Amino acid sequence: MDKVVVITGANSGIGYAAAKIYESKGYFVVLGCRNQEKGIAAEKEIGKNSKFIKLDMTDYESIDNFYNNLTSNFKNIDIFYSNAGIMYVPFSKTKEGLESTLATNYFGSTYLTLMMLDLMKNVVSSRIVQISSIAMYFIKEMRYERLEDESIYSPWTWYNYSNLYRTMFSFELDKKITNFETDVVVAHPGVTRSRLYRRSNPSLSYKIIDKFKTNVSTGVAPVIEASTTAELKKERVYAPKIIHQYGKPSTYKANKLAYNLQERETLWNYTLDKIGMKDIL
Ligand SMILES: NC(=O)c1ccc[n+]([C@@H]2O[C@H](COP(=O)([O-])OP(=O)(O)OC[C@H]3O[C@@H](n4cnc5c(N)ncnc54)[C@H](OP(=O)(O)O)[C@@H]3O)[C@@H](O)[C@H]2O)c1
Repeated sequence: MDKVVVITGANSGIGYAAAKIYESKGYFVVLGCRNQEKGIAAEKEIGKNSKFIKLDMTDYESIDNFYNNLTSNFKNIDIFYSNAGIMYVPFSKTKEGLESTLATNYFGSTYLTLMMLDLMKNVVSSRIVQISSIAMYFIKEMRYERLEDESIYSPWTWYNYSNLYRTMFSFELDKKITNFETDVVVAHPGVTRSRLYRRSNPSLSYKIIDKFKTNVSTGVAPVIEASTTAELKKERVYAPKIIHQYGKPSTYKANKLAYNLQERETLWNYTLDKIGMKDIL
């Protein structure tokens, strides 16, 4: 059988671009999408080497169903690209009581990532790629309190946290699974034109940022590099080479909090407690 890649949020932007590239490289591509119509359309576009499976990252029941569907169709997964995400959304909570940005970008993706290990841990050179963002660098200290409190919610700041947490958890997971065949790696696209920005404020700074956005082909390249390079660089972030924004993929240091082992352990325990997976590893 072909090698199999699973992508979350695969119907649009960077996820969709990645799906097309993996398919062209001979992978079978599983498209995890929350919207049935968009998922079916993506599957139709990508062709017979793809399969849409419904997946809503804010709903653990949906993630469980997605995973069960995967296990009944595939014995092994070679690449898991954790891509689904939202940005700058009005405050809302999931049915588990989590703030939506963190639930989608971090808690849901972590919950699924940890389950995926069973389908990947014995697959030689298998790889988990976690998307992150340059936004992670804006965070100066960790926060665990009142993340579900609407009165202090700031869409940008919560998005920044979600990206720092994605990065830190991935580094820690990679460290904890050295006995598995799977590596965990982080990539960010720079600032890439996509639907992600549709709710952003049309402020002056936003208009300036808009001028610097790259095409999705630049943004997706670090993801492809991180998932396929034979010379994987550990605890680095794959991103466009010139000022995190232009050119071919290169690697960077993450936010310095991501190298603080004590902070990572605290985040690890906090997260597993939050998603109810305390004894997973
Ligand atoms: N574009 C950038 O400049 C940039 C920079 C840094 C990081 N990123 C990250 O890159 C990732 C992809 O973003 P993009 O720029 O390609 O934006 P996009 O075109 O909006 O793609 C986001 C994808 O995630 C899906 N998604 C959102 N919430 C979901 C949920 N609850 N369950 C399942 N899927 C969900 C979306 O589905 P729908 O179509 O149904 O909404 C869509 O397929 C995001 O995680 C984002 O944070 C992007």
